[in-house]
Amino acid sequence: MDAHLHLRKGQILKEVAPYSAGVFGAGVIMPNTDPAILDAKSMLSYEKVVERATRGSGFKPLMTIEIREGTTPSMVRIAHEWGAIAGKIYLPDVTHNSEGGVANIMSLFAIFEEMQKLDMVLCLHSEVSGKSVYGLERKTLFLPTLVKITDWFPNLRVVLEHITTKDAVDTVAGLSNRVAATITLHHLYLTNNDVADGKIQPHNFCMPIPKHFRDREALQRASISGNPKFFFGSDSAPHTTATKECALGCAGVYSAPVAIPGVATQFENLVVSDDIRRGVEDFAGNFARKFYNLPEETRRITLRRVPWTVPQIFNSRFIPFLAGKELPWQVVA
Ligand code: NCD
Ligand code: ZN
Repeated sequence: MDAHLHLRKGQILKEVAPYSAGVFGAGVIMPNTDPAILDAKSMLSYEKVVERATRGSGFKPLMTIEIREGTTPSMVRIAHEWGAIAGKIYLPDVTHNSEGGVANIMSLFAIFEEMQKLDMVLCLHSEVSGKSVYGLERKTLFLPTLVKITDWFPNLRVVLEHITTKDAVDTVAGLSNRVAATITLHHLYLTNNDVADGKIQPHNFCMPIPKHFRDREALQRASISGNPKFFFGSDSAPHTTATKECALGCAGVYSAPVAIPGVATQFENLVVSDDIRRGVEDFAGNFARKFYNLPEETRRITLRRVPWTVPQIFNSRFIPFLAGKELPWQVVA
């Protein structure tokens, strides 16, 4: 299961969805589409188009709504009744399509109370916004807010999305079992040197920005720790070459086509034991299913240690993460 996935809409959805649906049994579908998914009605019509784009694969889209300052407890309740698995919060302007994000997260008291009552998961983009906030500290500065939310709502299930720092790993590890975090593929590989250092690498640019070596190491350790609070959310975020390779390029790494081989390759470098497949299965499936109270995965894929070269480009316009690299593992049909 992919616990954090951007599938977009329209033609892009049709092009990218098969790469996730072919490998994962389910995915938590992010609501920051254009326009955003803000209520049950738009969620249900988005679910239909995602289902159409993944038909026949056995992939289950796990739908979410975006929570904004205008969201009401009854909007949350109705979305939950219609199957929303989580509500997602972005702060304003922290990432792609987040202009309408929530400026004052603590104004959502009634929403959090409702979500706690419904046992609906709260997913937090978890970066402080504002031009005066130093970019690489956005994530760390959000942590006190997380702690406050979990103090006030101890039974609310919260996922801190795409963590990038050692202090986020430590904070999540120290909180209750109602609090978990997703880790992406690219944050297991990259530091901010891989985004801009001598040359700019737009296809590694994403929010939150990858950080220090010691942060990457903390994420790597968390991913292989066997602690079920840390699970895989690819944050696969496709943007076309035209919107990546330009001034004001979009944030987002397109990792869906390499997600599982990429995790297996990392695990091979990190794990002492030789049970790489078991580790991948837990990190990229079982742990998220447990946290989201979902039934166990029944679909099986085969991960073979057969070298594979990642294509340079997909559909002539999406450059994938690790493009052109040889990976020792591949998923075979
Ligand atoms: C994501 C996107 O493009 O939708 N971009 C990104 O850099 N991760 C949004 C997000 O999850 O921040
Ligand atoms: Zn994302």
